[in-house]
Amino acid sequence: MLYIGIDLGTSAVKLLLVNECGDILGEVSKDYPVFYPRSGWSEQNPADWWEAVRNGITELTADVDKLQIAGIGAGGQMHGLVVLDENDEVIRPAILWNDGRTHRQVDYLNGEIGKSVLSENTANIAFAGFTAPKILWMRDNEPELFARIKKIMLPKDYINYKLTGVHSCDYSDASGMLLLDVKNKCWSQKMLEICSVKEEQMPSLYESSDVIGTVKPDVAAELGLSENVKVVAGAGDNAAAAIGTGTVGNGKCNISLGTSGTVFISSSNFGVDPNNALHAFAHADGCYHLMGCMLSAASCNKWFMEDILHDDDYKSNQEPITYSKLGRNNVYFLPYLMGERSPINDTNARGTFLGMSMDTTRADMLQAVFEGVAFAIRDSFEVAKKLGIEIKASNICGGGAKSALWKKIMANVLGIQLNTVKTEQGPGYGGAILAMVGCGEFESVGQACESLVEISDTVYPDSELTELYNKKYETFRQIYPSLKSVFAGLN
Ligand code: XUL
Repeated sequence: MLYIGIDLGTSAVKLLLVNECGDILGEVSKDYPVFYPRSGWSEQNPADWWEAVRNGITELTADVDKLQIAGIGAGGQMHGLVVLDENDEVIRPAILWNDGRTHRQVDYLNGEIGKSVLSENTANIAFAGFTAPKILWMRDNEPELFARIKKIMLPKDYINYKLTGVHSCDYSDASGMLLLDVKNKCWSQKMLEICSVKEEQMPSLYESSDVIGTVKPDVAAELGLSENVKVVAGAGDNAAAAIGTGTVGNGKCNISLGTSGTVFISSSNFGVDPNNALHAFAHADGCYHLMGCMLSAASCNKWFMEDILHDDDYKSNQEPITYSKLGRNNVYFLPYLMGERSPINDTNARGTFLGMSMDTTRADMLQAVFEGVAFAIRDSFEVAKKLGIEIKASNICGGGAKSALWKKIMANVLGIQLNTVKTEQGPGYGGAILAMVGCGEFESVGQACESLVEISDTVYPDSELTELYNKKYETFRQIYPSLKSVFAGLN
């Protein structure tokens, strides 16, 4: 049988065709625009996602026997607010995970409602990108649109709805709404009340590999699929990427270098960071995880290359950054192009180059971008370390992990070995695995990962270089606190 894995990302949707042995038979990517109506805001049209998914499935399955397709599973960008009216029409563009407009609502939630109330009820505190502050923003700023809301959903759940007609959400993605009681896996009545939302406005909750329904007849006819194709609930993209890289079981780690950068630590038991710097979410294998999320990771490289240098030759630009240059750069970069979430939680923070002199080259600045992202990932590692979590090795995935140079920098800044898996497709592969489990190919997500995921490449840290980077990290971590009040003044 065949399975489709969907990764509904921020810049594009990536679709994979996978057989029951886990081999990737086809891959298609379809871009769509992100709109930045104001500094720090970001929005997308759910209709663009749906069109890209439909076109993507058509292209992906053009040369195969479509009746072999048994299941579809999606991983999607988390936290985005999608609101539907009584006719299930989208009311306004989706407000994305990296949108920073909600600082007032975040202050209200963390300040007036109180972090301890939020943490007791949801295991998390408010961050600007989370869904609950966005709901409050709509209530405060667009009361007429707010009054029309019939259903609230997350990005990949909109796709699942268009495929099946079912309003669903899985626990991993629902965790990032700040509306889920993560420990007890149910909607938090307290949070719904704070956000003026009724439970019937929320989708039904599922485990990620649960089948929510089958493809609707009209969609099946349009795409040439059987009406028996099962759609599973899927997962937030980080949980899906963790499944795709085999990051299941206690204490395993996955780093994703996508538009965002995340450190994902899987856990058999529910646990909360007492300072709430790391998110405490449900995992797509039925267990839990802790996660640090930086808002701009591989997107810093894309921004610097394409928007600043107007150059899309990523490979040639990395060639001058030879091994002997690593750990010896005097230029630093703060990667806060969209503000920052973990661990500093500051919507005012902005990208910054520091330490340039007359002999600074473009390669030094590019190197600083790679290093700045690696240092910011280390910030989340340091939080985990303080909680007593020792990470000796991690998987790594996402667009940034395609650069051998960036992986080398990352392994040495973190001082750990980094593994890349053979099917390095992150969330899309995780989505396909969830579909396979939902369709009965495997008994559990853990068993599927065990059978299908294999490490193909390992980058080891070098003790001398790790030492150089330890020193540089000490400098890096002084920069943001010195500029914090300057950033606040800029906005
Ligand atoms: C996680 C987060 C991002 C998005 C990116 O909390 O906000 O990783 O899921 O798609």
